[in-house]
Amino acid sequence: MSPKHVEDMYDAVIVGAGAAGLSAALGMLRSEPMRGMRANGIEPNVLVISKLQPLRSHTGSAEGGIAASLGNVEKDDWHWHYFDTVKGGDWLVDQDAAQLLAQEAPETVIALEHAGVAFSRTDDGHIAQRRFGGHTKDFGKEPVRRAAYAADRIGHQILFSLWQQCVAEGVEFAEEWYVTDLVVAKDGSRAEGVVAFDTHKGEAHAIHARNVLVATGGAGRLFHTTSNSWDLTGDGMALALSAGLQLEDSEFVQFHPTGLAHTGILLSEAARAEGGVLRNADGEAFMEHYAPGHADLAARDVVSRSIMAEIDAGRGVPDPKDPTGPKDCVWLDMTGIDADHMRKVLPQVVETIEKYADLDPTKDYVPVKPTAHYTMGGIPITTDGEVYRWIDGERAVVEGLFAAGECSCVSVHGANRLGGNSLLDACLFGTRSGKALASRIVENPVNDPLAVDDGASDADDVRQTADVRTAEIKELLAQLPEDDAAAGDNPYRLMADLGLVMERAVAVRCDADGIERALATLRNDLEPRAKALHAHSDSATFNQEITAIWEVRHLIELGEAVLEASDARHESRGSLKRLDFPERDDEHFLAHSMADASGRIAWQPVHIVDMPPKAREY
Ligand code: FUM
Repeated sequence: MSPKHVEDMYDAVIVGAGAAGLSAALGMLRSEPMRGMRANGIEPNVLVISKLQPLRSHTGSAEGGIAASLGNVEKDDWHWHYFDTVKGGDWLVDQDAAQLLAQEAPETVIALEHAGVAFSRTDDGHIAQRRFGGHTKDFGKEPVRRAAYAADRIGHQILFSLWQQCVAEGVEFAEEWYVTDLVVAKDGSRAEGVVAFDTHKGEAHAIHARNVLVATGGAGRLFHTTSNSWDLTGDGMALALSAGLQLEDSEFVQFHPTGLAHTGILLSEAARAEGGVLRNADGEAFMEHYAPGHADLAARDVVSRSIMAEIDAGRGVPDPKDPTGPKDCVWLDMTGIDADHMRKVLPQVVETIEKYADLDPTKDYVPVKPTAHYTMGGIPITTDGEVYRWIDGERAVVEGLFAAGECSCVSVHGANRLGGNSLLDACLFGTRSGKALASRIVENPVNDPLAVDDGASDADDVRQTADVRTAEIKELLAQLPEDDAAAGDNPYRLMADLGLVMERAVAVRCDADGIERALATLRNDLEPRAKALHAHSDSATFNQEITAIWEVRHLIELGEAVLEASDARHESRGSLKRLDFPERDDEHFLAHSMADASGRIAWQPVHIVDMPPKAREY
């Protein structure tokens, strides 16, 4: 779908159509003030731009569940969920935001049920819930069933339901449009709009908007081994950096313990929640040794590090498809799960193993290794989704600019996210930011005949940025460089090279030397090569290479921020394991890193409400 025509000015443009973007659109349209405005005959001008057809958004691949203390299967309490989230995040969590997350989780899940999500059910008809890593009862005493699930296809259910609701509300989509620029006033004070590339026609559009919400997802493609689909290229985060904004806590990248060997495809934590066990080459179930009492359902950073420790100690196994290859996996043993039950509650996991590994998980051990899964950091936002800059020790909100979902950082995940908390974050804070957007729109809607049009110079800024892009597109399509090496290069090769560099430097653990080497490679090799890229066809229509060129440039820009922030944090916390600084250091680093495109890092204090930091082993 393309918009019928591009408007002169939008009330709001939402970039991204996964759980966060769609929740924001619905939160906005269904908020009280917006209902009132529409009842008075004034329709908002809103556009949702997505680089994919929305139903291909990565939300659709979320598997195991969404966390909420519904207490449908056993007693639960939001205070326990709050505690687990703070502890799981190794105390780098903003506790006011985490309180909201845990408190508003049950109503968020019920709202999804009302939107049409077909949750699995208990025998008495309630939403079914299962265990998930790090979720406990009674402040850490024992595991609790908190993840509301739909077999192992919760993301698919949520994505389709939210999209259908948006279609019912008449939301206008620009599908397969790629946002190349976030346009912010030169002084950083307000959003002015975006520039978007219509991949069908090969044209760049200036889109002037009073409000912009960025919900573009994560950046797993920074790494060679990742559970993320090809399009998770950190676009929103890179757009923010290019617009002169900062990223918060970008050094924290989560590696999910159970990526299927050599593909990285996610095998849901639900496999372990349903009874799967990790085993080393000797057949030993090693997790009890690393995390007594929590074992295979300890938090993800702990499990991933434990797997790497087993591999380092020579107890890893090779991928059976490559028996003489590196022993860089361990076994996931699901043979103890009843076969019928497994097919009923883990159909996606079973199908993935059968199709991609030619194994039968009811009989065979399955080779797994940690896979890049989630970026805890991102564009800094308030609990209403407003983007801010950290300047002179204060939050300076960028008027009209919002973000939600994985590309943002409201700081509920801190240094390590708990499973099931990402869909919750996306839906809950997506909805909240949509409501905040609505409040701004009703004050001065574009379609109100009495509206004040004060945006002429903003519109000029957006147009000028679009002109620069249009010129760049011509340049990208112009003749290939004479230099053979440059002419033969392409964005896909560059992405592969970047993935290997990042993986070697910072996957699961890192140290200063490795980070420095990787930064030098990014700056001296990958960045110049990315600048020299040209398309291999002279037509811009449906030319995916053009988008891929921008994507790899985004990844490199973001990769540098990840490395710079990792370098600056001289401690180990959550997913960041610094081999040269093995301990957590609350005295100096109980703080959020705020990185900008120049490599400058500022530090913002963590919001502690009522849980002072404690030691966290697992
Ligand atoms: O393992 C999983 O199903 C992943 C869930 C999550 O990342 O929240």
